[in-house]
Amino acid sequence: MNDLFSDRILKTKASFTREILKATESNDIISFAGGLPNPISFPLEELAKSSARIIEMHKDKVFQYSTTEGYLPLRQLIADRYEKRFGLKFLPEDIMITTGSQQGLDLVGKVLINKGDGIILEEPGYLGAIQAFSLFEPTFLPVTLEEDGVNLEELEHILRTQSVKIFYSVPNYQNPTGLTYSLKKREAIRKILEKYQVVLVEDDPYSELCFDGESYPYIGADQLEYSVLFGTFSKTVTPGMRLGFVITKNKALMKHLNTAKQGSDLHTNIFAQYLIYDYLVHNDYEKHITKITALYKQQSSVMLDAMDRYFPSYVSHTAPLGGMFLWATLNNGLAAIDLLAEAVKENVIFVPGDPFYTTKERVNTLRLNYTNSEETTIVEGIKRLGAILHRYV
Ligand SMILES: Cc1ncc(COP(=O)(O)O)c(C=O)c1O
Repeated sequence: MNDLFSDRILKTKASFTREILKATESNDIISFAGGLPNPISFPLEELAKSSARIIEMHKDKVFQYSTTEGYLPLRQLIADRYEKRFGLKFLPEDIMITTGSQQGLDLVGKVLINKGDGIILEEPGYLGAIQAFSLFEPTFLPVTLEEDGVNLEELEHILRTQSVKIFYSVPNYQNPTGLTYSLKKREAIRKILEKYQVVLVEDDPYSELCFDGESYPYIGADQLEYSVLFGTFSKTVTPGMRLGFVITKNKALMKHLNTAKQGSDLHTNIFAQYLIYDYLVHNDYEKHITKITALYKQQSSVMLDAMDRYFPSYVSHTAPLGGMFLWATLNNGLAAIDLLAEAVKENVIFVPGDPFYTTKERVNTLRLNYTNSEETTIVEGIKRLGAILHRYV
């Protein structure tokens, strides 16, 4: 039977988190494994109003086939927002609406990657990117992610010695670690990349979930010739609408991305595009985002406090300034995958680090999501994990 399937699908692993979520969804289990936004943040009433309004206003148009690049007013609104937030000057023609930013990964892979081409990835890196890119059979070139961004010597060494097409990075509140690149490293990376013909993909679903202060400028967006920025409404409005976008000023790249999208799905769900646009123009989006970030900041601080209280001292962890995840390291060398087997017995789950690495297994790291559990559940789950971890002191 395997003779029927393509080499690329046989070499691509199913998403680890989606598999554990499936296995545990019917149980009364405390899950820190998913990456789900908190459903109490979904603006249900406002979306219901928008839904009625767009049908009333635009009638058959919201149900008709549409353009591949996406609904023009929405692309203009996205451009205006980047100008307001970062002073970046994008035109609607630099923006293509995608079916989640996840589709951006697939399209970039289709447009740029031949079998064996190099993709530089943060290590640990976003497992959805590893999965999407795996389908194009690239050579993954991991570069160590440090507290303030990737290791610069490793990055430069890889660029100097290997054939690389893409450097994929999540510069703000990264998935899985919650880490953010410092301003200094962003500038240093930009200087390095200027010397090479490599496409920088900055995947940024989380910068709006910033607990305090301002977001740093992007590494390459609007500044490097081969630069692509991904964004999404998944974390700030609703993930189920599957509305993301790809931005690049590189006209050749955009033309090919558009062709690849035509072949994939013709265009992104047009009802969802009208809906989100209407929601954004009729509501105070900034206020909505402020509400979500306050909620997530509180949930992350409850998790951090509980970890400090219940975890043994051999566990260190990141303390994210935004986003949805934190990352723990078991400094006694315990493999997180072994810990998961025990945690499942106590009805609590997390993602062991393994699927976030392309070259390592049985790692001593793990990802914890804090956005989709109530505060009392967070404390109870961490307490249970702490009890297991204490068996290894
Ligand atoms: C870094 C990163 N990129 C992309 C995605 C996919 O998001 P979307 O819902 O926009 O497809 C996620 C979702 O968790 C993510 O963490």
